[in-house]
Amino acid sequence: MINGLRQIREFVQKELGYETTGHDYTHIERVVSLAKLILKGEQADESLVIIAAYLHDVSDDKVTTNPAAKRKAIADQLIGVGYDDAFVGKVFEIIDNMSYSANLKTHHQLSIEGQIVQDADRLDAIGAIGIARTFYFGGHFGEIMYNPRIMPRTGMDKAEYRKRGTVINHFYEKLFKLKDQMNTPTAKKIAEHRQQVMQDFVGEFVDEWNGAK
Ligand code: ADP
Ligand code: NI
Repeated sequence: MINGLRQIREFVQKELGYETTGHDYTHIERVVSLAKLILKGEQADESLVIIAAYLHDVSDDKVTTNPAAKRKAIADQLIGVGYDDAFVGKVFEIIDNMSYSANLKTHHQLSIEGQIVQDADRLDAIGAIGIARTFYFGGHFGEIMYNPRIMPRTGMDKAEYRKRGTVINHFYEKLFKLKDQMNTPTAKKIAEHRQQVMQDFVGEFVDEWNGAK
């Protein structure tokens, strides 16, 4: 039994219920399920994993224009259901350092709990759902789908990464790289199949674009 879980879920549902870039509450539920699966193969603090999984996108600058206010809301929520400052610190240590964008220029060493949440979040970024979320995100932000003359970008910092690219380039700029960056054996295994699904999709897409099929 995880203390305060019902209230934390209601809080996240309220925060992300209307999110329309692929980080809505259903993304959170998938990440929580994947985190539970990964947890079975690891020795880790289950409460910390589950709570960080629920809260990981609430204060992200992709989904809010006021991350500072959302961080305060997260801390108030956790303190309100009885967690202490040390636990709140561990949750922020995870959610502040786990994202792809936070690790573009520096590698943050995460706790085992952070590694599990990061793997779960990254698994939901790849495979069939990953493809769907990427087009959804691209449409929301007015990205074009593809232009063979625009090359995938390399060596980006966070500001560059947040500039519009193309949806197909996002596979090369991020999604295809995730398989080799998984932390846990469980996630590495699941990522193999999801990687293949994405590679097949992008291959077909480009062939159709070129009139080869
Ligand atoms: P993180 O929170 O790990 O930094 P990202 O910001 O990289 O996560 O992205 C989360 C998801 O949003 C990606 O997996 C992808 O589906 C989508 N996304 C992010 N940037 C782009 C982009 N430039 N084009 C299309 N989709 C994107
Ligand atoms: Ni996420």
